Order: sequence, then C-alpha cells, then structure tokens
Amino acid sequence: MKTLVVGGAGYIGSVVVRLLLAEGHAVTILDDLSTGHSDSVPDGVELVVGDISTAGDVLRGNGFDAVLHFAAKSLVGESVVRPSLYWHTNVIGSRALLDAITEHEVPRLVFSSTAATYGEPDVVPITEDTPTRPTNTYGATKLAVDMMISNECAATPLAAVSLRYFNVAGAAWGAGERHTTETHLIPIALDAADGRRDKLDIYGDDWPTPDGTAVRDYVHVADLARAHVLALTAADPGEHLICNLGNGNGFSVREVVSCVEDVTGLPLPVAAAPRRAGDPARLVASADRAKARLGWEPEHDLRRMVADAWEFTRSR
Ligand code: UFG
Repeated sequence: MKTLVVGGAGYIGSVVVRLLLAEGHAVTILDDLSTGHSDSVPDGVELVVGDISTAGDVLRGNGFDAVLHFAAKSLVGESVVRPSLYWHTNVIGSRALLDAITEHEVPRLVFSSTAATYGEPDVVPITEDTPTRPTNTYGATKLAVDMMISNECAATPLAAVSLRYFNVAGAAWGAGERHTTETHLIPIALDAADGRRDKLDIYGDDWPTPDGTAVRDYVHVADLARAHVLALTAADPGEHLICNLGNGNGFSVREVVSCVEDVTGLPLPVAAAPRRAGDPARLVASADRAKARLGWEPEHDLRRMVADAWEFTRSR
C-alpha cells in the first residue's frame, strides 16, 4: 500500500515505518519534528517537514491507500498542566487530518489511541467495552479523536482502526525511545541504573496494589508495530474498529525496577516521591479483540522490552 505516516519520525512511528518498509509498503512521512528526529527517518523515505494541518497538501492527487496517524502530544503529566496545548494539537490537528482524508478519499486510517481513554477502571482486565472516563487531559483528547473517527466512519466509506496502546516499551530495528524530556518509567530507570541520572523517583507507594506502586501493562514496540500493519486491512469500509494492545499482564513499578536491575546487572537507586497528577493505580489490557480481529498476539515479555531498551540506550 501507499501510506502516509503522520508523526513517523517519533518513537513508535519510526518503528512502524521500518516494519511497513520491510513488508513492502511505500512510506511518506509528515512530521513537524517537534518531538521526532529527522535522523530516525530511514534512507530513501520521503520526509515532509510540516504541521498536521498541512496533510491535505501531501494527500492531494497522490493516491494514498492509507494514513497512519501518530502525531500527538502524549505526556500524561504535561497534559494536566497544559490542557490547551493538548486540545489544540491532538484534537484540532486530528480534525484537520480527518477533513483532508475525507476530501482526498483516502480509504483507510490507523490511529494511535490509548489506554488513558479508560481512566481508572473499576474492573481489570480492560476491554473495549469498559466505560471511557479519562482522568487526564491526554486521555480526554484521544477519546475525542476516537469519537470524531467514529462519526466520520458513519458518514463516509472510511475504514478506520484505533489502537489503544497500553505502556509501550523497548526498541526494534535500530529505533527506540529518545525523548528530549523523558517521563517514561523504563528509559528513566535505565538511565538511573547507568548513572546518567542520580535516581528514579517512584511516584506513589501507597496505591491500592500488592506492593503499593502503580501497575501497568507493558507492550513491546515491535509487537505494537505488527498490530499496525495488520490493522491496515482489518476494518470494513464505514467501520471504526477499536482494539486494545497490551500483553494482559500487570507489572508494578517495583517489579520493573527489579527487572531493570536484573537485565543491567546494576543497582538502581530509587526514592519515594508523591503520586503524579492524572495517574491511575492499575491499567491492564484484555487484547482479545486484537487477537480476534487483527490476528495479533504479543510475542515479547517485559524482560525483552527492558533488554532491547537497554541495548538501544547503550548504542547512543
Ligand atoms: N513512574 C514512576 N517514576 C518515573 C516515571 C514513571 O514512578 O520517573 C510510574 C508512573 O507513575 C506510572 C508508571 O511508572 O505509574 C508508568 O509511567 P509512564 O510515564 O512510563 O507511563 P504512563 O502509564 O504514565 O503512560 C503511558 C503512556 C500514555 C498511555 C499510558 C497508558 O505514556 O500515553 O501509558 O497505559 F496513555
């Protein structure tokens, strides 16, 4: 297929681009490089540097078969203190992209949604029928985009898949996580073990979980990439399919710390810190629908995610 990858120079987008190319798809990237890196773009791939609102210029007359949409502000903590930035970038940006997709009759869309749309669920594992009650601005904006996509699919022949990522980690095919401002647990923990940071702050040790630290469902970025390729052909025209992507296992912050110490062979200094605004206690996915509709099953465990992220960190 001829694909436009919006946000394809970022962490997840750049891994998906590598798999799309390996599977024989043609790729053009639109990225404003606000958080992405031009050197994440593989040789031979066209990079259009521009805002998401300019997607129509790229789509016009070029016969794209699919858009994969990764471009977003995506930090839970930041979203709580800068809501306007998140509503403008994520929702208004996505509205412009959807309008361009409809105007230029692109038949397929794969969208990066998130577990943060569910908020703090009463029951785990979380299915796609779990009520969506986001506890932070980030989750609210992604839910708003999911709703816009549903409305668009009801009114047009667009075949769309929203993939609700749980906690993405690891590295693949030479691409990995390299945020200028890093807030994610595993890269911070690796840096602390490696001495690039003095310690890891554990945000809350009084959560209602077995060891008091927050529990998340970690999924390897290579598994996630495979789900995107499968999603390209999973929805029917006029359908909006929503699938969770997680491993179905929860790990606490302390369990991640132990895994990092084990993989690196280094002690990881930690300190107790207050809870972070907007954080839920426990998020664990049911990925049964992704298995049924995409034929997707995750293949990598937490240890592999930490090991691949560690190798990527040390290669830089
Ligand atoms: N954490 C710490 N210390 C840190 C960083 C994180 O204790 O220095 C904790 C967090 O409080 C949380 C857990 O580690 O309990 C994981 O935090 P991350 O920042 O790695 O990830 P989040 O769970 O906050 O968010 C990620 C994505 C979101 C997505 C969410 C869905 O960034 O986009 O997973 O599960 F919505």
